[in-house]
Amino acid sequence: MNTTDGAPLTAEEIRNWLLEEDEARLETLWRMADATRHQHVGDQVHLRGLVEVSNYCVRACRYCGVNAERAEVTRYRMGRDEILACARRAAEMGFGTVVMQAGEDYGLSGTFIADVIREIKKIGDMAVTLSLGERPDADTLLWKEAGANRYLLRFETSDPELYRKIHPDRGGLVSDRIAHLRRLRAMGYEIGGGVMVGIPGQSVETLVNDILLFRELDLDMIGVGPYIPHPATPLADPERFPPLPGGRQVLATETMVCKVLSLARLMCPEANLPSTTALATINRESGRAHGLVRGANIVMPNLTPPQYRVLYEIYPAKAGIHETAEIGIEKIRKQLADLGRIPGMGHGSRQRR
Ligand code: 5AD
Repeated sequence: MNTTDGAPLTAEEIRNWLLEEDEARLETLWRMADATRHQHVGDQVHLRGLVEVSNYCVRACRYCGVNAERAEVTRYRMGRDEILACARRAAEMGFGTVVMQAGEDYGLSGTFIADVIREIKKIGDMAVTLSLGERPDADTLLWKEAGANRYLLRFETSDPELYRKIHPDRGGLVSDRIAHLRRLRAMGYEIGGGVMVGIPGQSVETLVNDILLFRELDLDMIGVGPYIPHPATPLADPERFPPLPGGRQVLATETMVCKVLSLARLMCPEANLPSTTALATINRESGRAHGLVRGANIVMPNLTPPQYRVLYEIYPAKAGIHETAEIGIEKIRKQLADLGRIPGMGHGSRQRR
């Protein structure tokens, strides 16, 4: 089978890899993904400073711990100066990107975010990535003009029926994140999509289509992590959301997540792929390192102030939730050194060849 010649895998080949259980053959998959990563994006690991700016959200996503229907969650929204203080720390630590992530929070107005983007750009030569939900085009256009570079919006699953079940529409508007990503690309953003692995109702065939869609959309960034049930959310209730019967349900295992990550690398060789916090959460010892040697080239250290970080609990027992930024970053730098990888220089944008 091809490794780094760029010929895409067929749906059948992807399916077979997802079903592969032989450890020795899986080693071949990891090696191909790692070689493709080395050849196309090199040994630098770009660090993106993540700031979780608000946990308010208008959406009722069935999987998410901070969904709008959870009245018991204490909500926070960071102020301009608090966000800028985090961005300054990102610059001091030499990161090339600041990521502002939040629920879909209209309390973060279009003009507020635009102003913060402009201020971040004055701090240093950093890219700005936004992950603020399905905002109207008027907002995302404003933010692009203010200097934002990238937008993250995982489509979660390519199966429209499953998507509708786990991600209800809102305000009479059909949620179509795939169309949304296409519009963001047309506005000039680098676009990031991705999926959760192991959603109740997800089959291997669904995952095959997810991976084919990564390539069809020509994603610049792809986030893949395990689905981690949050007990206070509807999706964690097997009566309401039963697993697929007959052994067809995809399990949220580290191996399955790594298979999807490796296949994403083989299908989208130039994409920036993070080794996600959710992967580090299901294997605290070595989840992050495994991601980095099976296709990933990005890590997103969390710079959210500790008093807010504990409230951004989209799933339980999130890795690093009680850590200071310094300790988290020290650990990451040590892991990179152990793997013979180097912290990235510059913005770490997608390079087209
Ligand atoms: N488990 C794993 N990932 C989750 N996300 C949201 N809730 C969960 C969960 N329970 C992911 C979604 C979302 C991203 C910000 O976090 O993929 O797009």
